[in-house]
Amino acid sequence: MKNKILVTGGAGYIGSHTCIALHQAGYDIVVYDNLSNSSREAINRVSTLIGQPIEFIEGDIRDTELLRQVFTKHEFFGVIHFAGLKAVGESVAKPLLYYNNNVSGTITLLEAMAEANVKNLVFSSSATVYGDPEVLPIDETSPRSCTNPYGQSKLTVEHILEELAATNDGWNLIPLRYFNPVGAHPSGQIGEDPNDIPNNLMPYISQVAVGKLEKLSIFGNDYPTVDGTGVRDFIHVTDLAQGHVAALNYLQKQVGQDKYSSIGFLPINLGTGKGTSVLELVTAFSKVSGQDILYQFDARRAGDIASCYASADKAKELLGWEAKLSINEMCQDTWRWQSMNPNGYNIA
Ligand code: NAD
Ligand code: UD1
Repeated sequence: MKNKILVTGGAGYIGSHTCIALHQAGYDIVVYDNLSNSSREAINRVSTLIGQPIEFIEGDIRDTELLRQVFTKHEFFGVIHFAGLKAVGESVAKPLLYYNNNVSGTITLLEAMAEANVKNLVFSSSATVYGDPEVLPIDETSPRSCTNPYGQSKLTVEHILEELAATNDGWNLIPLRYFNPVGAHPSGQIGEDPNDIPNNLMPYISQVAVGKLEKLSIFGNDYPTVDGTGVRDFIHVTDLAQGHVAALNYLQKQVGQDKYSSIGFLPINLGTGKGTSVLELVTAFSKVSGQDILYQFDARRAGDIASCYASADKAKELLGWEAKLSINEMCQDTWRWQSMNPNGYNIA
């Protein structure tokens, strides 16, 4: 069985951690990234951690010609497709950029895959496709809806994959719906490196802890939750990385079967199944880091929901995968990365 994987967006936060997990699981990887939200330093550090150079192509998923060359040069088993823009606020200001990058980019990638007859794909989807869920925990059959262009771009790609699988033979398409990825590699060498002031909770907390930001604003303390603050399903990025390995192993097993019929479109949640409130996360981080985290309560953030956590049963049943790491480990590893790299990959 071929074991070479094209990893689009492999220089990014989740991609870089997944490259390590893929290498450890025996997969050969080729990383394809335009570095629009990442740096070569991440690739260098992944190479150091795995003890060998990584094949890296600086390129855009909207570049048909370059993709054609890459698929001609390499014989891939499949693609893990992380490449995409992910800032919700920016997507509201620049919807065309988000649809162009995330939707047109994915179509261009799928065309290149079809041409090369590579039909195995793991796609980075998001729990954002569930909108404001009616029932918790959220399973894969829950209704989907989105309120911002970022979420719409993920949902649109899911619809495209669904239609492709329904109308064309041979496709094996697994959108993994991530809940809230946090944490960093236990070495402290790679982690999340937001460009600007972080939008997401964990990087904001860790920058307050390290003294880069003064105070956390907690958006809302009047939600119908355990302490009034929002509840999310935080998942350690290394658990998430293992989820991608499990998805690929599943594809390898299915495709290798005698009476193989294609998997089609198979969405799977990657979450822990447990909800943690914003205040609970702040308290855990403060304890683990030994730092005071100053915070104040502010108004709810537009578009936020009260609670969101996964049913992780499908991943366990089909992929044999479940998240193992605790909230404390998520905080510990984030803190190690943040305190060892207060300026992220910007080492100058
Ligand atoms: P990231 O920004 O760190 O990584 C994305 C990578 O894709 C970056 O390295 C960027 O340079 C690259 N990229 C973007 N557009 C590209 C293009 N046109 N061509 C080539 N490369 C391109 O983000 P991440 O947190 O690692 O997220 C990875 C994927 O998972 C994204 O698709 C994101 O939408 C999705 N996702 C992330 C989260 C999260 O909380 N981090 C949650 C759900 C889903
Ligand atoms: C957000 C995005 C979602 C995206 C995900 C991962 C929105 C509405 N949703 O999810 O589409 O898939 O990030 O990129 O932007 N919080 C604070 N103070 C902060 C930051 C966050 O109190 O400074 C709270 C939020 O109100 C929320 C929780 O922390 O209750 C988690 O927020 P965040 O980390 O931004 O993730 P999501 O909102 O779940």
